[in-house]
Amino acid sequence: MEIIEDTNEKGEKVKSKIWRPYIKLLFKAKLPYFWIVFLTVIILAESTLTLMFPDLTKKIVGGNIETAVVLGAVGVIVGKVALSGFISFISKFTMFKIDKSYRGLIWKQLMRSPIELFDQVKANEMVSRTSTDTAKMSIVFSYIVPSFISVTYLTVGTVAILFTYDWRLGLAQAIFLPIYIGVYFWYGHWSYKVNKQLQGKLANLTQFLAELLVNIPLIKTFVTEKAEDQRGKRNIQSYYRASVKKKLADWIEHPMTGLFDVVQSILVIGLGVYLVSRSIITMDVWVGYFLYVTTLFGVLNTLGSLFIELKMSQGATTRIAQLTEHPEEEYERQKSLPSLNQDLIFDHVSFDYGEEKVLKDVNFSIPHGKVTAIVGPSGGGKTTILSLIEQFYHVNEGTITLGNTPIENFHLKEWRSAFGYVAQDIPLLTGTVRENLVYGVDREVSDDEITEALIQANAWSFVQNLHEGIDTHIGESGGKLSGGQRQRLAIARVFLRSPQCLLLDEATSNLDTRSEKAVQEAMQKLTKDRTSIVIAHDLATVHDADQIIVLDEGTVSGIGTHEQLMKENELYHTFVQLQLGKPAL
Ligand SMILES: Nc1ncnc2c1ncn2[C@@H]1O[C@H](COP(=O)(O)OP(=O)(O)OP(=O)(O)O)[C@@H](O)[C@H]1O
Ligand SMILES: [Mg+2]
Repeated sequence: MEIIEDTNEKGEKVKSKIWRPYIKLLFKAKLPYFWIVFLTVIILAESTLTLMFPDLTKKIVGGNIETAVVLGAVGVIVGKVALSGFISFISKFTMFKIDKSYRGLIWKQLMRSPIELFDQVKANEMVSRTSTDTAKMSIVFSYIVPSFISVTYLTVGTVAILFTYDWRLGLAQAIFLPIYIGVYFWYGHWSYKVNKQLQGKLANLTQFLAELLVNIPLIKTFVTEKAEDQRGKRNIQSYYRASVKKKLADWIEHPMTGLFDVVQSILVIGLGVYLVSRSIITMDVWVGYFLYVTTLFGVLNTLGSLFIELKMSQGATTRIAQLTEHPEEEYERQKSLPSLNQDLIFDHVSFDYGEEKVLKDVNFSIPHGKVTAIVGPSGGGKTTILSLIEQFYHVNEGTITLGNTPIENFHLKEWRSAFGYVAQDIPLLTGTVRENLVYGVDREVSDDEITEALIQANAWSFVQNLHEGIDTHIGESGGKLSGGQRQRLAIARVFLRSPQCLLLDEATSNLDTRSEKAVQEAMQKLTKDRTSIVIAHDLATVHDADQIIVLDEGTVSGIGTHEQLMKENELYHTFVQLQLGKPAL
């Protein structure tokens, strides 16, 4: 989980931009404005009561025990107690509402983001952005802003009232307060940095643990327990150091506050005694002065932590903005897709994932209704071709067209629905066999249809032996199944959908020879009269294809039928010879 640096180090100019994503996010998310305003109003009401209490006490100390004054003082205390309980509930309630709004916004955005964004931001990081980062942002309007408003109101109110008591009392606080607030802001800034370091270390540690714990079989296979033990210790140690530093930073607040308390007491008592002794103010005014200052500084003590929370929310905003400002996939486009009844043409296509070119000026056409196989060495760009057809990514140069129409012109949902894609890494959902098969199918699917699809994909034999048949849970992301079983479920999914076009990426690579043969037969039925693109290492699978494309390091090295390529293409020839166990001629 990488912690994105906030922009402080890049200088003032960039720093001012922090608020831009924030404001954009505010407009995008529907915030509960009524509750935010209501919360601010009741907080201000509570602050008003806070401001009234010392003055009422002063009057009582001065001998004014009129019923209105005494009842007023009691009323203020009761009102404050009632309001503070109410405020703490409304504040949390508002925070949950804001949380919900931000999370909803991010989730919607993530569902519409291109795969490219998920290549950039790791899954762990996405999780922390939608959970903890949103919480940090939510407290801005449910806590930080109302608190700042209340603190400002109390500060200005206190100084104003003190001026009405005596200008010297007002002036003393008007000079002392800015110094106090300035030091607390500085402290907040520094403490935030230390806090951020700690968060970074914690993120590293959790990332390390999360990654390693799912890879235990890998660690055992490569006998790297000792090295990983050391690496874990280093992470734990560096988190420990950062924790100590953070505690130290927290602790420094104590002597700092203590020092200010001493200065403040000297000011209150010294100035008070001096003014009383000179009969400039009376004793009751001094009591009022003392109470105002004590109350105000009790509130100002929270400034440091408020400032830290504000800075943290800025960091969170920057990270969330990276998600919400990423361009969405364009779903609505000019053209409706009638049917895939034309050839799919790659015309001078080049593509890279950001660095080296993966496809280099590739030209071929996928004939409609025929089976095209793509073969070639690993890393040559075969899966990339399927990703481009699915429009997970877009070409950098050249065009992909259906007939004469660029594929980017068709409505994306219609386009993707036209393809049945069995991906190389066989993604399955946590859930039952049935849930996996019907995922994304809009119509009612009967048990018979599911069974039929499983039989076709040669998966029925194992599914019927599961203890709850098609309603058996297959573990987290299908983890309770073997590679071959997963593959057959993925194929059954395609049988159930019966899409216009098939994209099969190594769809039978994990099957034993007998199952493979059975699935291949089923697939032949499926691919019959249907545009199909089949990637396979096993050349027996591609032997009967109408057209075979040999892809080598991002370039097309040959196109033709098996017989043609055996004669003309050296790479293909070598491949076949190697698989047959004979030396290449
Ligand atoms: N999401 C990605 N981000 C960056 N690079 C990628 C990504 N996916 C693939 N690549 C790179 O693109 C190249 C082609 O990958 P591709 O998956 O298309 O190969 P392939 O022919 O399907 O290989 P295999 O037979 O091993 O499945 C590889 O060098 C790979 O490292
Ligand atoms: Mg591949």
